[in-house]
Amino acid sequence: MCGIIGYIGEREVAQVLFEGLQRLEYRGYDSAGIAVYDEDELTVIRSEGKLINLWHRLKKETLRGKIGIGHTRWATHGRPSEENSHPHTDCHGKLVVVHNGIIENYLSLREKLLEDGHVFRSETDTEVIVHLIEQHFDGNLEEAVRETLTEVKGAYALGVISAEDPGKIVAARCDSPLILGVGEDEYFIASDFPAILNYTRSVIFLDNHEMAVITDKGIKVMNTQGEPLEKPVSQVEWNPVQAEKGGFKHFMLKEIHEQPRVVEDTIRGRLEEDLSEVFLDGLNLSDEELNNFDRIVILACGTSWHAGLVGKFLLEEYARLPVEVDIASEFRYRDPIINEKTLLLAISQSGETADTLAAVRESQRKGGKVIAVTNVVGSSIPRESDGLLYTHAGPEIGVASTKAFTAQLVAIYLFTVKMGRVKGLIPPAQAQEMISELRKIPRHLETILEHNEYIQELARKYFKKRDFLYLGRGINYPIALEGALKLKEISYIHAEGYPGGEMKHGPIALIDENLPVVCIATRDRVYEKTVSNIEEVKARDGIIIAIANFEDTEIKSKTSEIIYVPKTSEALSPILNNVPLQLLAYHIAVRLGADVDQPRNLAKSVTVE
Ligand code: AGP
Repeated sequence: MCGIIGYIGEREVAQVLFEGLQRLEYRGYDSAGIAVYDEDELTVIRSEGKLINLWHRLKKETLRGKIGIGHTRWATHGRPSEENSHPHTDCHGKLVVVHNGIIENYLSLREKLLEDGHVFRSETDTEVIVHLIEQHFDGNLEEAVRETLTEVKGAYALGVISAEDPGKIVAARCDSPLILGVGEDEYFIASDFPAILNYTRSVIFLDNHEMAVITDKGIKVMNTQGEPLEKPVSQVEWNPVQAEKGGFKHFMLKEIHEQPRVVEDTIRGRLEEDLSEVFLDGLNLSDEELNNFDRIVILACGTSWHAGLVGKFLLEEYARLPVEVDIASEFRYRDPIINEKTLLLAISQSGETADTLAAVRESQRKGGKVIAVTNVVGSSIPRESDGLLYTHAGPEIGVASTKAFTAQLVAIYLFTVKMGRVKGLIPPAQAQEMISELRKIPRHLETILEHNEYIQELARKYFKKRDFLYLGRGINYPIALEGALKLKEISYIHAEGYPGGEMKHGPIALIDENLPVVCIATRDRVYEKTVSNIEEVKARDGIIIAIANFEDTEIKSKTSEIIYVPKTSEALSPILNNVPLQLLAYHIAVRLGADVDQPRNLAKSVTVE
């Protein structure tokens, strides 16, 4: 997720662009840059790292101009660096592009453009766009952009300006947000409202497969066939701070609601057209090498460790490899048995967790191969790993991990299908079935998110309780752990996750009329056992909050507090079952007036040991 901005009007454009990027920094902060056009000259200033670095560069320049575009980057392809920063230019510096999204077919396009003699300066997917526009340019910028869009596959929100067809910004969008701001004789493009609210509240929403040509005379919107479209101008009511959170009260709630898109983004560009294969181009391990490993060890901390526990169920079932899941801070202080036939998955949203990084180094010292499952491109863990499996969740601002966890589960699921195919244990037809079910998940998540109010009602009933117990079995036992962690880390209520089968070995002594017990009871191979757990709790007057499938009519006779989720495969059920638990924790914490996005004592990235 990146932030783009563009401006045309009478103000000093560099200032407008920089202030707009400041308002968009929450969308990505790996690098930033602007391009300004003035009297036949295009000037591009870029810098790695946070926006303040760009500011120091801009202070040394005297940028004049009334038209320009800017970008703040969240890296998906290509490490954070100045050469990978946007705006990207064509071979002759006459054309610049800013892009938010993922171009799925960028590798094949890049090869063809290189054969045609184009000179690439970055590792990004975006750069293929600017060279394609250059290739198609014949004096009319919007025509060149339109022809380019017929060749690219994937998600994009684009801003383009040219010194050879000056005085206009061409914008286009598909599956990445882009709004058009309408001011007094000044016009904007932006990824999100915060960038322009200081200048105007009048916006045009660009829809998928639509383009716009913005000049100082106004905005023309068209479809990608060039046919003009009439678009209404809407008024934005949010204040800039509200807008950064997308109108949500907290980043955590916004990020919970981003999960359908995050699933789509993490899948994007990684599937064979017929869904029979998974392409994970960053693994840096051949199918033969993958086939040679005789065990997998997963290393992680906190929520990422819970994702690893789900991975154990998936990989053991479908890749038939023994999988150990180790808390990184424990692993690194043992003398673990690792050798060149051990494959390690290091799961870390931030890519900077000190214990996980230390465990990676220890594993490599012993001859293991490490794949980093990470959300932050270019962070320490992927930089030191042998292979990469990036999640595409975008920046996760809330300290409590939500969308990144979901993206981890998707990435591990894709890796499982890959390993199963490589080992010949998953035939093409089964892979197609597994991937088809995965592609339904975004819609299922939307359905769950639409039932937010009922979960708020449960939070109102139980937010004063001082202890919660979460029960799950099998592949959903890690979700019981994750649900408990979410509650305790943002509401400070004591909560424990337990495997349902362990109830009779101790926790059942806790059950009474004051103890809410959250039971994950979706239909799977251990459903009947979970219903027995519910009966045990009910017999002792415990409070039961069940997570169950819409189709389940049996569960109603056991409890009245049921959060329903759509039916999916057992392998994918953790992704769906986890979201009601995120929302329950969130609404309880809000009721308690807790600092949801920045809970006490916690940090987003634990870089200390
Ligand atoms: C998750 O909600 C917590 N904030 C924490 O447990 C986190 O998952 C853990 O610190 C690991 O972080 P990482 O994924 O960035 O390595």
